[in-house]
Amino acid sequence: MHTTAYQDHIATLCMRMDRALERSGHDHALIAAGVQKMRFLDDMPYAFAVNPQFKAWAPLTQHPDCWIAYTPGRTPVLVYVQPDDYWHLPPAPPAGYWTHSLDVRVARTPEEAVRHFPTAGRLAILGEADAALPGFVPNNPQPLLDYLHYHRAYKTPYEIAMLKVAQRQAVVGHRAAEACFRDGGSELDIHRAYLVASGQTDLDLPYGNIVGLNEHGATLHYQHQQPKPPERSRSLLIDAGAAHAGYAADITRTWHAGDARFAALVAGVDREQQALAAQVRPGMDYRELHLQAHLRLAGVLREVGVVDMAADTMVATGVSAAFFPHGLGHMLGLQVHDIGGFMESDAGGTLPKPEGHPFLRLTRTLEPGMVVTIEPGLYFIDLLLEKLRAGPHANAVDWAVVEHLRGFGGVRIEDDVHCTHGEPENLTRDAFAAAH
Ligand code: GLY
Ligand code: MN
Ligand code: MN
Repeated sequence: MHTTAYQDHIATLCMRMDRALERSGHDHALIAAGVQKMRFLDDMPYAFAVNPQFKAWAPLTQHPDCWIAYTPGRTPVLVYVQPDDYWHLPPAPPAGYWTHSLDVRVARTPEEAVRHFPTAGRLAILGEADAALPGFVPNNPQPLLDYLHYHRAYKTPYEIAMLKVAQRQAVVGHRAAEACFRDGGSELDIHRAYLVASGQTDLDLPYGNIVGLNEHGATLHYQHQQPKPPERSRSLLIDAGAAHAGYAADITRTWHAGDARFAALVAGVDREQQALAAQVRPGMDYRELHLQAHLRLAGVLREVGVVDMAADTMVATGVSAAFFPHGLGHMLGLQVHDIGGFMESDAGGTLPKPEGHPFLRLTRTLEPGMVVTIEPGLYFIDLLLEKLRAGPHANAVDWAVVEHLRGFGGVRIEDDVHCTHGEPENLTRDAFAAAH
């Protein structure tokens, strides 16, 4: 089904790798999938996490010990390790759209892989130290990595297609999570409903689900799922994704049970979120968009009666940061926080974050092919509220309103948006619309 798009994707990766090898002065590239890691003093493995450089070439995320071996001008070799194992189910024989664009060689042991490696020339070997095989130690040349990381931002049509599948999968989960919230389910119930509907186990998720009822929505990466529901469920903040062929969706929704002021806060964030997403266009410096998000969210704080201060003063004095203490978003792809967000060029260099905004994960100017998240939020975080209350701007805050809204935790709305030559393509809103 994806054969042609995947062929084109591989052709693009080959072109990029040719340039990257020139930059670093190597003749061949070897890319390790990585090895299964064991817990300390134990015979239990950690969950396997594949080298993202490997899964860029083949949609294989549960295949330790495999390698890509690339020589310019030749079909990329995939060394597919299929061990004789009766404890675990070995990987199935290679099949599917991706086998047509690769020279697939099956090996029975990790060590056998070296038979398929180049025998002469300078090798760039990408992987963690523990992926080393005798005579083949990862060297991760920086100029080569810089080139690949920079260009990873520009998704191929195949990658966009995979990201769309992940969106659709996650959206089905979000719908089920909302229904479970409305039925009075606990955080654990909601988490389970999400997994069942999206057809995933915890291990399949691209990141641990964030499922916060009421006050728990104020913890940005709330990592627990309480098995018992609270007495009253006022709000749900759920940040949950899905992965398809190694590509991630990263979606947040905030639902509520009818409180007028919190509903106004959610509606305000949603409106501004859509206005920000509409600006995912070529030439937009993401730092500008982040600073604009502060101004827009400050406007919402004012509108809802939380802070009585001009929006620009709120931003200048750091008051908006007490309620919006994270970045507007990041690049998305093979990794949830896709690499290369600060790169100045494909030869390296760093584009600095705006002063006073240490948590921003993307400082590049948007260009067609990039996929970014747009995830503004407003939260009632005790730690930050205490500082605000002790500071010089405490009088501008309506603390009774804050006290009321504290019980709802916070709001975050996160969509994944594709920058094109024209109108931005909001992958998340499109998937929600298609799910109706
Ligand atoms: N789910 C993590 C994030 O939104 O960045
Ligand atoms: Mn995100
Ligand atoms: Mn998220």
